[in-house]
Amino acid sequence: MMRNEFRDKVSTDWLAVDRRHVWHPYASIVDPLPTVPVVAATGVRLILEDGQELIDGMASWWAAIHGYNHPVLNQAIAQQMCQMSHVMFGGLTHKPAVELAALLLDIAPEPLEHVFLVDSGSVAVEVALKMAIQYWQAAGHPKKQKMLTFKGGYHGDTMGAMSICDPVNGMHTLFSHVLAKHYFAPAPTCQRDEDWQDRDIAPFRRLIETHRHELAAVVVEPLVQGAGGMRFYCPEYLRQIRALCDANGVLLILDEIATGFGRLGAMFACEKASIAPDILCLGKALTGGTLSLAATLTTPEVAQTICKKDPGVFMHGPTYMGNPLACAAAKASTELLLASPYGKRVAGIERHFKQTLLPLGEVPGVRDARVQGAIGVIELETAIDMARIQPEFVRRGVWVRPFRNLIYLMPPYIIEPPDLEKLTTAVADIVALSSNAR
Ligand SMILES: Cc1ncc(COP(=O)(O)O)c(C=O)c1O
Repeated sequence: MMRNEFRDKVSTDWLAVDRRHVWHPYASIVDPLPTVPVVAATGVRLILEDGQELIDGMASWWAAIHGYNHPVLNQAIAQQMCQMSHVMFGGLTHKPAVELAALLLDIAPEPLEHVFLVDSGSVAVEVALKMAIQYWQAAGHPKKQKMLTFKGGYHGDTMGAMSICDPVNGMHTLFSHVLAKHYFAPAPTCQRDEDWQDRDIAPFRRLIETHRHELAAVVVEPLVQGAGGMRFYCPEYLRQIRALCDANGVLLILDEIATGFGRLGAMFACEKASIAPDILCLGKALTGGTLSLAATLTTPEVAQTICKKDPGVFMHGPTYMGNPLACAAAKASTELLLASPYGKRVAGIERHFKQTLLPLGEVPGVRDARVQGAIGVIELETAIDMARIQPEFVRRGVWVRPFRNLIYLMPPYIIEPPDLEKLTTAVADIVALSSNAR
């Protein structure tokens, strides 16, 4: 029997239906925090139901690098929609997927030559883990099924991805009994190549050398540990890790889902260390924040080894794999990025963050203030009271979504100085407010 009761409620109080029935990320259905109703978004602004405009400091979880409602992205999606929104990718192919793959390979570091298109970052990570395991099976080393990663990492919310997220402070301790067991090195701490000391890599080296016979891959977020704690580390780690992977016969998976597409000024973070992975995960900004799409890229060595042995194929194939709309959006977004002065824009954001956010490191109650590319982070000594702080940001006309004890900014690259100023001023205000409330 069809029930009308929920739709009737939407017409009278849709936010009440949202509160009671629609589950938001990392949210309670019993005691939900208020959600902010947004009706449109354009440029760097979110437009709320009551007409208020918020300057977006989050780029919708780091994806909307060109801002919202971009005519070039809109046109690419609309044009593709009139041709074909979706067809299965099994046995069929289409230009949007092939053109996107070619573009990604042209900008990705050599020797990446194969692209597997999936629907979200977490799935791109699952695919990367499966590729590594299938590679070693095909290469005659079936015991190599474990991963080595850093503590403090974040790679997504699906089971395989969770198994390599931070094992202690991550959001996933609840599931620890069903998650695959992997190896964790201490989170990297060295910030500058000039300060590098061999002891920085010693625990990692011990782990890879001890467990090389069971390790399929090392998996890390290059240079920035994002949702696991917004921590930065220097390129020398990556160079050392690449060399240790090679010396010990272990694949290197780089998860550039957060760092890819210019967030640190270079197209990919691994360029800053002049290294290339065996498997690369991309997502988030791939479509400029318009549609869900991610990609796992790999080398001829990995792809051909997998496909030359039984079962002769890579064992993965999501229903919406290679969705043409998302591929068209991703191609348009990546071309837009390449045609833009994104390196200069990111450098401008970084300069502004350094001037305005780093001094906040001196405020009582602030443990650390740090900046890397278009990422600015204020780490407080205590967890943020979201019920109190979120409305304070909205009152100041900005959209900033802290987590745990971290207030951070990752705006669209197109943000102009006056809007950037409003964002950082709001952060300074909130930091003062939190400091006074101690
Ligand atoms: C580095 C990294 N990997 C993977 C993911 C998961 O991506 P998605 O949320 O699209 O599943 C995220 C998301 O924040 C991420 O930052």
